Amino acid sequence: MNFYDYNSFDDVPGLIREALAIKQTNEVSNMGEGKTMALIFLNPSLRTRMSTQQAAYRLGMKVIGFNSSEAWPWEIESNAVMNSNKSEHIKDAARVISSYVDVIGIRCFAGLEDWEKDSADQLIHEFIKYATVPVVNMESAVFHPLQSLTDMVTIEETKTIKNPKICLSWAPHPKALPHAVGNSFTQWILNSGLDLTICHPPGYDLDKSITSGATISHHQEEALEGADYVYVKSWCMSAPYGKCSDAYNDWIINQDKMNLTQNAWFMHCLPIRRNVVASDEVLDSPRSLINVQAENRMYAAQAVISRILKSMS
Ligand code: CP
Repeated sequence: MNFYDYNSFDDVPGLIREALAIKQTNEVSNMGEGKTMALIFLNPSLRTRMSTQQAAYRLGMKVIGFNSSEAWPWEIESNAVMNSNKSEHIKDAARVISSYVDVIGIRCFAGLEDWEKDSADQLIHEFIKYATVPVVNMESAVFHPLQSLTDMVTIEETKTIKNPKICLSWAPHPKALPHAVGNSFTQWILNSGLDLTICHPPGYDLDKSITSGATISHHQEEALEGADYVYVKSWCMSAPYGKCSDAYNDWIINQDKMNLTQNAWFMHCLPIRRNVVASDEVLDSPRSLINVQAENRMYAAQAVISRILKSMS
């Protein structure tokens, strides 16, 4: 049982309720006693690392953390002649790690050079193919399901109407960033039957096979009007893929823009560049959910690992 994206588990509404119940009762258990989880990070992390580790501890598991700086560089192509700088094949690494632990989390960001390759999400699929224990996606090239489950939990916890109007707004950033959070949020919101408008400048499209069903706008202020939730994320250009520009720095979310909404909740997965992506005033306002989201990462991860442990018993 792997946790790759929205479609990995049955009964996602139930999973959201399970995470909320863990939060409300501060549930801990010894369900994972005697079991170990490996957390493999090929890219940096604060929240995913600490929340997933703490979630595993709260279930009685041991945790082994492993960073890319400690790893042999992995070859991921099948039948490769490995005479370059790639020292270990992913099939060997995945099998070996599986022999030491019971569950594996892996983070492997998009390369941002080749859209076709990134959209195939090859590294995590190859890893899952060869791993012999359950694998949790801790953000791959295409999806960040632990973040999206957290976001759904946070919306469920705060919403006062059944079908809130949700706006996902692109925001400026000095570095080119992956599409995974935007893709993933879109996938979870649409599959949950909620109303989603995505606004971004021209040339910043997310994967159309994922955004199909959302309203797409290139007019930020129009898209924000009447929103109950504003989810903000920066991502790189789709054409040319992997680049960023400062042409749309005025897409920063400030209080004037939040005033166009229905007193919306502000959401962002963090880390955030303050006063570039959104202003301090917005981030520190009573309508900002950024710290609630970050805390909810732990309960979401605990709900996911609990489901996996139950499937193993
Ligand atoms: N939101 C999130 O995944 O944070 P980290 O990159 O710090 O793990």
